[in-house]
Amino acid sequence: MARWRRRSGRVISKIVASVPLAIHEFLAQNAAKDLLRVSTVGSVDDGKSTLIGRLLHDTKAIYEDHLHTLKADSARVGTGPELDFALLTDGLKAEREQKITIDVAYRYFATPKRNFIIADTPGHEQYTRNMATGASTANLAIILIDARHGILTQTKRHSFIASLLGIPRLLIAVNKMDLVGHAEEVFDQIVTEYRDFAARLGIADLKFIPISALMGDNVVERSQNMPWYHGESVLEYLEDVYIGSDRNLIDLRLPVQYVVRPNLDFRGFAGQIASGVVKVGDEVLVMPSLKTSRVRSIFSFAGEHDEAFAPMSVTVTLEDEIDISRGDMLVHSRNLPRVQADFEAMVVWMAEEPMQPDRPYLVKHTTRTAKAAVQKIEYRVDVNTLRRMPPAPLAVNEIGRVVFQTTRNLFLDPYARNRCTGSFIIIDPSSNNTVGAGMVIDRVPASQLRAPTATAPRSANISREEGRVSADDREKLLGQRAITIWLTGLSGSGKSSIAKELERRLYEAGRHAYVLDGDNLRLGLNRDLSFSKAERTENIRRAAEVARLFNDAGTIVLVPVISPFKDDREHARRIIGEERFCDVHVSTPLEVCEARDAKGLYRKARAGEIEEFTGISSPYEPPERPFLCLNTMGRTVDDCVEELLARVRALIMPPRPGLT
Ligand code: ADX
Repeated sequence: MARWRRRSGRVISKIVASVPLAIHEFLAQNAAKDLLRVSTVGSVDDGKSTLIGRLLHDTKAIYEDHLHTLKADSARVGTGPELDFALLTDGLKAEREQKITIDVAYRYFATPKRNFIIADTPGHEQYTRNMATGASTANLAIILIDARHGILTQTKRHSFIASLLGIPRLLIAVNKMDLVGHAEEVFDQIVTEYRDFAARLGIADLKFIPISALMGDNVVERSQNMPWYHGESVLEYLEDVYIGSDRNLIDLRLPVQYVVRPNLDFRGFAGQIASGVVKVGDEVLVMPSLKTSRVRSIFSFAGEHDEAFAPMSVTVTLEDEIDISRGDMLVHSRNLPRVQADFEAMVVWMAEEPMQPDRPYLVKHTTRTAKAAVQKIEYRVDVNTLRRMPPAPLAVNEIGRVVFQTTRNLFLDPYARNRCTGSFIIIDPSSNNTVGAGMVIDRVPASQLRAPTATAPRSANISREEGRVSADDREKLLGQRAITIWLTGLSGSGKSSIAKELERRLYEAGRHAYVLDGDNLRLGLNRDLSFSKAERTENIRRAAEVARLFNDAGTIVLVPVISPFKDDREHARRIIGEERFCDVHVSTPLEVCEARDAKGLYRKARAGEIEEFTGISSPYEPPERPFLCLNTMGRTVDDCVEELLARVRALIMPPRPGLT
């Protein structure tokens, strides 16, 4: 520590197996400068270690004592009088031999312009895993090519993975130029070939530099040996490359890691901001409960803040007491992630044992873990040709496009938009090992999904027709977001009265809303259904399917139905989609409903004239954590509608003057 302090202001280097405490100190000290995250990728003998060693050495990032050892070792076992920088970073090898698992080693160094973290992904046998974990936060990847060998399968594979991981820029370092007589043609040939290949990858920003890591040519200083090259050295490029646009500061995503409750007066929600900016006073929405509140205060290890942004780790307190737990996510109410239990992703398979589509896996996404089933493998990718190969369970290091179905909803963004909320790891629950990494691609086309109901369509010969106008388009046209307000509660609790009044209020405010009343449905679509448990289940399924169609058409739907069974309501939530589903429990107690007995049904039920009457001879399972709980006892309908409207206003975007 003392030594570190003596040298702070200069440079430091450290070889560690995971991000250590020192990185926080390092970052705090250098907070004023920006940080470039670099991932280095190369096959074993491409000279990766030598390049990193050279960068550390030439930026004076090596301690004197390390340097001393290095000089001695180089003379003894290495390259002789020249310093063998590979020996510097090959310390990891020893650790690997001792079977210490190292996924990624990070090295830190700094120049007056910038701070750098280089993720060195050791080992070639497991490079896919290492890349997927080490590179996903990288601003840039350095791909090393041995000038003597040119572009190899490995190079293509690494480049493809880098593009898959969304690394926005690649530096192709053509190494060992000294061994090809510093020949310009060799370099040009590699550049031409690589450009040809990379055109299919869609990486916008490519940079080529001819180097000799061993001799130091074009690493830090420009080389005298290659006068034909007029570009920057590796370090110059790393110092100057523009990365300002890499961060997503638009979409607030704060996955809750812990609920901090040191005493009764303080309740904070802690986590690392995955993207976006949060300010005191912001209206935030909690996924999945869709409850809203305002940010009261923001803390980090450095104290209290008016605002915080990705990737800060913060604790946020809210104005209202809301039930929030680990795995929930705070977002802005006008910018929601996708809420999905089925999604499509590019998957890098990392386990020796191939994927077994019939087995359950776990998916860990931000702070949320869910059981997951492989629903479909779309195709595999041949990394050499970038062509699609027929679908088959992925083997180790294979990459493919896979559709997953999870048991809980996840709050997802496409990976291209958000590297954190767009990625996940796949865990084998029997060994707890990470077996794959996934990157979420755009919304799954509905045609690729099984029907979200327990039963598939009778015929396998039915496929979905995709329209030319999307739900989004229709919502835009109508100037609203189509949600379903599902009112559950006993007969006579006030569901229909509230729904009808809410419909009128929405209509007056220029919203398209429609009440799908349980009684009315039972007069038409559901006239064949009784009140047995199974037929109530079917009743609710149909109501939910209709609500979904209305939502798809852009209409806000109000569904007052008893829906007494929890599983049926959960099924409705899945059919409609969590992002559209707001369950409101009209919790008027049975005594009150029975006293009201507007339709005289309770009297009949008590007299045994109606079978399976909810609350009397058939159970009602109240929701545990509804979006809103409305007790109508002693209140007017208007009053209840006012409360409900206040809660859903933010969800029915954008605001209209009549509603405020
Ligand atoms: S649900 O249980 O399947 O959700 P739903 O909301 O569609 O019920 O229909 C409930 C309405 O049907 C009640 O408001 C009431 O008017 C009428 N009804 C007739 N028989 C019953 C019964 N056995 N239990 C509950 N409601 C009944």
